[in-house]
Amino acid sequence: MLTRRSFLSSTMPLGAALATFDAAGLPRVLEAAAGAEGRSPDDVARDETFWRDIQEAFTLDRTIVNLNNGGVCPSPRVVLEAQKRYLDISNQSPVYHMWQILEPNIESVRRNLARVAGCDPEELAITRNASEALQTAQLGIDLAPGDEVVTTNQDYPRMLDTWEQRVRRDGIRLVKVSFPVPPPGLADLAQRLEAAITPKTKVLHFCHITNLTGQIFPVRDICRMARARGIRTIVDGAHAFAHFPYAIRDLECDYYGTSLHKWLLAPVGTGFLYVRHELIKDLWPLTPGSVSLAGNIRKFEEIGTHPAATHNAIAEALVFHETIGVDRKLARLRYLRSRWSDALRDYPRVRFLTSADAAQSGGLACVGIEGIDPARLSAHLWDRYRLIVTPIKHAEFEGVRVTPNVYTTLAEVDLFAESMASVAGKGLA
Ligand SMILES: Cc1ncc(COP(=O)(O)O)c(C=O)c1O
Repeated sequence: MLTRRSFLSSTMPLGAALATFDAAGLPRVLEAAAGAEGRSPDDVARDETFWRDIQEAFTLDRTIVNLNNGGVCPSPRVVLEAQKRYLDISNQSPVYHMWQILEPNIESVRRNLARVAGCDPEELAITRNASEALQTAQLGIDLAPGDEVVTTNQDYPRMLDTWEQRVRRDGIRLVKVSFPVPPPGLADLAQRLEAAITPKTKVLHFCHITNLTGQIFPVRDICRMARARGIRTIVDGAHAFAHFPYAIRDLECDYYGTSLHKWLLAPVGTGFLYVRHELIKDLWPLTPGSVSLAGNIRKFEEIGTHPAATHNAIAEALVFHETIGVDRKLARLRYLRSRWSDALRDYPRVRFLTSADAAQSGGLACVGIEGIDPARLSAHLWDRYRLIVTPIKHAEFEGVRVTPNVYTTLAEVDLFAESMASVAGKGLA
């Protein structure tokens, strides 16, 4: 097959062709993916030549080691360039170029996102982040005083604050379930949520994968159990989408919110909300639109003037993501994680707060060193090695959260493992 590289190098001088690839990045990723066809994800996960092409698709500052990809991620060059291109187009005359030309193409983004997410495009609204998506569900459901919402005490603080506001404003009751890290198994998580249900429970709200330790929940089992009792389910998938494979339709949830500026590597300020078809008309939007949109998923996008460039560049992030392939991506993230965690396994003071079971975790993990404060530990890793991790201090556990990404090198995770081993052995200097 004539690849784009071989075609271009046969039609233009080599130097010019390479300059084109260096500027674009995606052709190299396409070639890497073509070369990986027919091989298992675990095999590709260990192929540094494959990942070198992915690493070079980003414009990073390699003088720091960013192991906090759980907060927000850099976009690959192609995504950033698409966003800039759309911004340039918009700025010619936004009332025409942005509203008339670019904005209608949000429908292509919706269609492509829904295909990858495994739902109907008519059930997917594009939002500015996971918070907006989840708050639309949390604040848009009718609840009466005394109605109960069951969640966990490891759900995302902003989402818990949102429910707390409804406690104050609407007189609902919030029940926060605790669970061990790691738990004995997936069934334990489902049982804990089920045990908290009372006849007054109207909503279950929980993470697909938690931000604190990367614990994956058995979403379908919980949603089935809730549905059989007439309880609505809101799933916080901020860290799930484009991290590991699943289809929303298989989860059987009612509402699902995610960020796209995390694992999809889309521009900062992107997310989506899924609402089950038959529930759209009864869910109040955060920013009301015309009554004619009542049963239309687009009513959740009535946010006023906003940059079309940001959401349209999601389309480019989807191409990048699908070119790598979610199975290969997950296998690589797991490989990176096992590389640093295996190196630390024999240190008696090291505590792993994330299950090693593949059904319960992906690339995001939390680890502590007994007797070492996580804030001091992360400050030490930054001061001494320019390594970024996230200190986690929960009422029931503490550690540092480690989230590599597809651009992370083996040398970078090795540096993390060595620096942790040094602290585990000698303490903080
Ligand atoms: C579990 C979880 N839910 C929700 C959010 C909010 O995401 P966003 O910042 O995209 O609104 C985050 C962000 O880190 C998160 O980790």
